[in-house]
Amino acid sequence: MRPLIRSACRLRARVRAMATLPAAAAFSPSSSAAARPPRLTLALFFLPSAPAPAALGARALRTSASAAAAAAVDVGGVKIAREDVVREEDPTNNVPDTIYSKIGLQLHRRDNHPLGILKNTIYDYFDKNFSGQFNKFDDLCPLVSVKQNFDDVLVPADHISRSYNDTYYVDAQTVLRCHTSAHQAELLRDGHTHFLVTGDVYRRDSIDSTHYPVFHQMEGFRVFSPDDWSGSGMDGTAYAAADLKKTLEGLARHLFGAVEMRWVDTYFPFTNPSFELEIYFQDDWLEVLGCGVTEQEILKSNGRTDHVAWAFGLGLERLAMVLFDIPDIRLFWSNDQRFTSQFSEGKLGVKFKPFSKFPPCYKDMSFWINEEFTENNLCEVVRGIAGDLVEEVKLIDNFTNKKGLTSHCYRIAYRSMERSLTDEEINDMQWNVREEVKNKLKVELR
Ligand code: PHE
Repeated sequence: MRPLIRSACRLRARVRAMATLPAAAAFSPSSSAAARPPRLTLALFFLPSAPAPAALGARALRTSASAAAAAAVDVGGVKIAREDVVREEDPTNNVPDTIYSKIGLQLHRRDNHPLGILKNTIYDYFDKNFSGQFNKFDDLCPLVSVKQNFDDVLVPADHISRSYNDTYYVDAQTVLRCHTSAHQAELLRDGHTHFLVTGDVYRRDSIDSTHYPVFHQMEGFRVFSPDDWSGSGMDGTAYAAADLKKTLEGLARHLFGAVEMRWVDTYFPFTNPSFELEIYFQDDWLEVLGCGVTEQEILKSNGRTDHVAWAFGLGLERLAMVLFDIPDIRLFWSNDQRFTSQFSEGKLGVKFKPFSKFPPCYKDMSFWINEEFTENNLCEVVRGIAGDLVEEVKLIDNFTNKKGLTSHCYRIAYRSMERSLTDEEINDMQWNVREEVKNKLKVELR
């Protein structure tokens, strides 16, 4: 175990890389964050406060893909209809149909799905080591208030994660949760002291093989009372931090066997100190979770004055891609038998065998950007037209001319996981993408 303090330089490199480059490039060997695997879970809260980009009008973000207007879905007893989350005329709403169509699918509750298998394996670890003390929640509604998602866990008012560019807003007070930490406060208030929360979380993001706007997290939370640490010779914070590290190192061994691990200091608004756990896997350090000792204020506001607690949040896709050898995050959403039939209940780590590999088709497009342009908005438009047929959207050229106009060239990779695409359908999609990018993002195509 080699504990490591993240250097300011490393953090700066990452923040800069994420702010300016597509995610895939941010971690390419040529960047100063060389050999870093792409982030999946935690990026949102690494970033220190930054002014939020101006709220974008809903219509600017709307995509044309129309999910079948299915009847309301039921999530944990809450009925959610399309009109509850997609409101084209409401400027405080930026939820497209592609996102609505994912609500209620709850991949993590399918026992034969890699995410369900992984969730159950983590449950086994906690059941075995804590004799059933952890209460489990995997059916909490993903529609939460801004208060739950941000205020209750002390996310600063100007934190970038609150922006319309990063989070899906149903209205000014309601979001699709962007992390399972959104449930910490209510569960504490309900008197829980040991809990695991698994759920789908939603983030506007760029497009590549490890990023999808819906993914799954598991949150763990444990409260200690003064009796727990009084005989230990440590203060409450040190005691909780030591217990947290021991618990998560045990979990990593339960999932990966005897792996090399390291702790990296980091920042989250809701924990202090905060850490990431990295494991050495296939010649690379892989970030698997974020965690820390819960800020006192959260405990105090929710009925646990004088207590301490730890919390962690891990990204299930990130772990499952490694454990099952799943090369592209879109596969988790596939209903193709050739994918689904490869996994069965209780079998962690069965290696996925690609059933065929279809070639990608690349299309480039260049335009002069305007002040409102963001890559997340571009990706939303592309996803709205091409759905899961888009594999990657990558900035390949960027320059500013003498007049101060900035041009971006993006390369879009189209590839189906399940079949070959015809030239005609790719050309159609690309034509529609160009039209919508021009009309919705108000950029000038070159
Ligand atoms: N909520 C954090 C994220 O999604 C992860 C986290 C959970 C970190 C709990 C610390 C404690 O990025």
